[in-house]
Amino acid sequence: MPAIEIKPDVYWIGVNDRTTDLFEGLWPIAKEGVSYNSYLIDDEKKAIIDLTKSFKGDEYLDQIDEVTDISQVDFVVVNHMEPDHSGLIRTLRRIAPRVTFLGSAKTKDMLESFFSIKENVRVVNDGDTLSLGKRTLKFFSTPFLHWPETMMTYEVSHRILFPCDAFGGYGAIRGAIFDDECKDFDFYQKEALRYYVNIVASFSARVLGAIEKLADLPIDIIAPSHRLIWRKNPSLIVNLYKNWAEYAVGKTEPGITLIYGSMYGFTESMMDAVAQGISREDVPLEIFDASRTHPSYILPSLWTKAGVMIGAPTYEVSMFPPVEAVLNMAAHKHIKNKKVAYFGSYGWSGGARKNLEKIIEPLKWELADTLEFKGCPTEEELKKGEEFGRRFAELIKKGT
Ligand SMILES: Cc1cc2nc3c(=O)[nH]c(=O)nc-3n(C[C@H](O)[C@H](O)[C@H](O)COP(=O)(O)O)c2cc1C
Ligand SMILES: [Fe+2]
Ligand SMILES: [Fe+2]
Repeated sequence: MPAIEIKPDVYWIGVNDRTTDLFEGLWPIAKEGVSYNSYLIDDEKKAIIDLTKSFKGDEYLDQIDEVTDISQVDFVVVNHMEPDHSGLIRTLRRIAPRVTFLGSAKTKDMLESFFSIKENVRVVNDGDTLSLGKRTLKFFSTPFLHWPETMMTYEVSHRILFPCDAFGGYGAIRGAIFDDECKDFDFYQKEALRYYVNIVASFSARVLGAIEKLADLPIDIIAPSHRLIWRKNPSLIVNLYKNWAEYAVGKTEPGITLIYGSMYGFTESMMDAVAQGISREDVPLEIFDASRTHPSYILPSLWTKAGVMIGAPTYEVSMFPPVEAVLNMAAHKHIKNKKVAYFGSYGWSGGARKNLEKIIEPLKWELADTLEFKGCPTEEELKKGEEFGRRFAELIKKGT
């Protein structure tokens, strides 16, 4: 894609990534892609705000060259050191050796440990400004959005906020770079929530803190480093993020996430009965086969819904590992305060349930009900399963 002028002297540059399988080596994006957005301010002094991953380097450097002589770039603002935004730093320095890197004190340390860069680094502090000529940059310290060194940059004359990871989402740019051109908002929102829960959710208190800190700042455009630029309605993405962050502090919506796994189909038969029971009550239900669904796609449902129904057989005196893996990831992401019910088949000793109790204890998930059965569920047990599902759905309805 060519450089795109978003305001006089301010350009989007960046690349779409549709070939990386796993973001951070962990989260699937092969189908959805991701964009690494970077910004160039072509003023008396020339500044780039965040770079891209070390990927499609020629395309990215050509975009800069379209606008200005790349060797004459004066500043690179490093809002965030994660290599999806800093990967091209050494390449850029080779081409523009007089460039000065601007970042927080922690960024200065990290530039050395990640890229052996010690020279031409200038630390900027919260509230500092830098005049580029007509345009002025102001820096805001916003640690842990997403790493300890992160900050946001604000362009004063056009009122543009460059928040890097915050207010971003998964998904390659699909033609539209601006919110008002976006024709696939449902896809956008789904992937932005998945990104939020996968990447940002652990730092939800920091999200709410940053939103409060910047509440009085006049913002016309929010230009994140992943996916859409918000120029028509920047408050929309701020409100979405605020809404998602509030799930960390007790907000919840009625609904049940049913996560199950099954080796030979016994637990799966019971799952059908339980789901039937839940469906009799008017409660939204999402069902995930943990063996075939990456936790990345299950976490958004767990993050937002009040109830968790777990179906897992016993496997080596413990819970069937794919289901356990989802729960461990939920624990890693600090998904707390859920109501949970458990069902599962066992052959001789059982053990899945004990394992579950151990995992959910620190998460303060309340185990409301359990249903265990030996081998293949009988007709009578399936009837019990249906009622078990209905009862849990009723509990979720009452509690939210
Ligand atoms: C590899 C493997 C390990 C198992 N370990 C145990 C166990 O430690 N204790 C137990 O009670 N059942 C154990 N089972 C038996 C299963 O829990 C039982 O067959 C159950 O009905 C399987 O349900 P499913 O068809 O939903 O997978 C094991 C089964 C397999 C295949
Ligand atoms: Fe990041
Ligand atoms: Fe990022």
